[in-house]
Amino acid sequence: MDVRLAVTGFGNVGQGLATLLQQHSEEYVDRYGVRLLLTGVADSGGGAVDPAGLEPADLLQAKQAHGTVAAAARGRPGLRGEDFLSAASGHVFVEAASTNFIDAEPGWSYIRSALQRDMDVVLASKGALALHWRDLMTMAAERGRIVFYSATVGAPLPSLQVADRALLGAEILAFEGILNGTTHQILTAMAQGATYEEGVRQAQEIGIAETDPTLDVDGWDAAAKVAIVANAVFGANLRLDDVARQGIRGVTAADLEHARSRGQRIKLIGRAQRRDRTVTASVAPEPRDSSDALGRLRGDDMGIVFLVEPLGRMAITIESGGHGGGISTAMTVLRDVLNLARDRAWSTPSPG
Ligand SMILES: NC(=O)c1ccc[n+]([C@@H]2O[C@H](COP(=O)([O-])OP(=O)(O)OC[C@H]3O[C@@H](n4cnc5c(N)ncnc54)[C@H](OP(=O)(O)O)[C@@H]3O)[C@@H](O)[C@H]2O)c1
Repeated sequence: MDVRLAVTGFGNVGQGLATLLQQHSEEYVDRYGVRLLLTGVADSGGGAVDPAGLEPADLLQAKQAHGTVAAAARGRPGLRGEDFLSAASGHVFVEAASTNFIDAEPGWSYIRSALQRDMDVVLASKGALALHWRDLMTMAAERGRIVFYSATVGAPLPSLQVADRALLGAEILAFEGILNGTTHQILTAMAQGATYEEGVRQAQEIGIAETDPTLDVDGWDAAAKVAIVANAVFGANLRLDDVARQGIRGVTAADLEHARSRGQRIKLIGRAQRRDRTVTASVAPEPRDSSDALGRLRGDDMGIVFLVEPLGRMAITIESGGHGGGISTAMTVLRDVLNLARDRAWSTPSPG
């Protein structure tokens, strides 16, 4: 079965996805019985569309040479919105554009249009989930559409799949996690003697911190992830503002030294718990024993621990953020697309 993908955003994640398709498309056909075709790709300069499938190498080359996919063979400068979705005629809309926590655009408008067009949706961007969870999920349910968003919560950690599939039948009471690689990298550097400013600079040098790291260091990114996981796991309807939030700017060398003297490390922990019918959620720095599942993590490692009745604590961790943000996030988007194809019974497993 051919699965047609319309993708907005051709930065780290979008280009990572094109690279994976360029290298592994035939393998996916053999292994999963599904041929993934990029039928539309848009960036801020316009789009490229071909219902028969665009050539990933051509898109990557056009982006590198001219800064926009609109310069590719099937490119159309200025193509966006409804015109783009209509021309791409995809089965699945993949949202991998930059977003914000003010109006969640451009993703939120695209997502609504895609659902109206009866497309399934795979999200890398968090904005719409953190601000419009209930509306988005209600609209998807009314249209009978699937929305997957693994990449939004610490890709490539399989947090949501574990919660949704591996723990089916058990009860998740709470979770806690290190869900933001940038702050974790900064705190690790500070624990090794760097100042806060040096820690930020190091994180920028290795390419995980933005020029303006506000959304990370003030805890917004982690809070959005906590809201998304809590909504998915507890059936809650949290918005970003419902998560009590404290970032890492106030963490001092004295705090780190005090923690170290007690065999602990300071981590930015996001957590949520359900008591009766109430879900509470927070993000804050806290000392952790260096031997516990989250306390032992370093650098841009990430992890999440579920407290599960009757199984106890279940930890999922990944070292070094899965190596290389764009590709590991693209892998996670791809995993969602392949799972979606499987759930829709579009894919046929290879014999033997
Ligand atoms: N990088 C990661 O590892 C990671 C992990 C989890 C989630 N995410 C999320 O995934 C999304 C993409 O991340 P990224 O690292 O790929 O970001 P990025 O490198 O900054 O790329 C963002 C892309 O969005 C495009 N864009 C901006 N406005 C647009 C519009 N109106 N229509 C279509 N495209 C538009 C940009 O176009 P131009 O190229 O023309 O500027 C660019 O291609 C973000 O929302 C991010 O928060 C990223």
